Amino acid sequence: MKLHIVKTKDELAQKAYDVLIDVIKSSDEVTLGLATGSSPEGIYEIFRAEKPDVSHVTTVNLDEYVGLAADHDQSYAYFMDQHLFNHLPFKATHLPNGLATDQAAECARYDEILAANTPDLQLLGIGTNGHIAFNEPGTSFELTTNVAELAPETVEANSRYFDSPADVPTHAFSMGIKSIMQAKKILLIASGEGKAEAIKGMIEGPVTNEMPASILQNHPDVTVIVDAEAGSLLK
Ligand code: F6R
Repeated sequence: MKLHIVKTKDELAQKAYDVLIDVIKSSDEVTLGLATGSSPEGIYEIFRAEKPDVSHVTTVNLDEYVGLAADHDQSYAYFMDQHLFNHLPFKATHLPNGLATDQAAECARYDEILAANTPDLQLLGIGTNGHIAFNEPGTSFELTTNVAELAPETVEANSRYFDSPADVPTHAFSMGIKSIMQAKKILLIASGEGKAEAIKGMIEGPVTNEMPASILQNHPDVTVIVDAEAGSLLK
């Protein structure tokens, strides 16, 4: 793993953007795996300002809440539209369909999309409990796309975006760890002291499915960019 510790969130976003742009410019056919949440917001802001050519870039997102329509203002499809897809003309963009009624068929459909579009780079955030996508502690490393039950701490963390706790989705379609590990390159970003334990476990702890992100120790090309707070517990 290559680790960069930066001072500010702005610096983090710029450094991550630079890594993404190198991949975007590396070929005339590129697939990017993208993430939602607060961590990548600064990166997408730079995309909106810089407007790089992405007409040759296909995107695949990590996850989508079960039960939310693409136009629901808390769905990840909506998040991606607002932050990125409405602003830049990507070649194609993919997310799981939160409203799919046949969940097994939806997971299979997404696996087919991933098989045809292996990310050249997968962007990841990390949960305070070490989850990547919605692969919560205890999840098998062997899963491909699956319906994940969100851990109580994840529901709690996500509740900041919803009016009432009862509205917070409890399940999500999520790329599995096995799918994530297929990406040629992985870029994980984290900021704030709430992520410090997870960053320490991911980098210095044993590889265990109790700390899902620790599997990244087994991937040949991982870059981690954290701010000082998220990196504060590292030796
Ligand atoms: C989002 C995702 C999640 C988040 C993680 C961190 O697509 O898959 O794993 O990356 O929950 O969320 P933030 O960035 O909001 O702290």
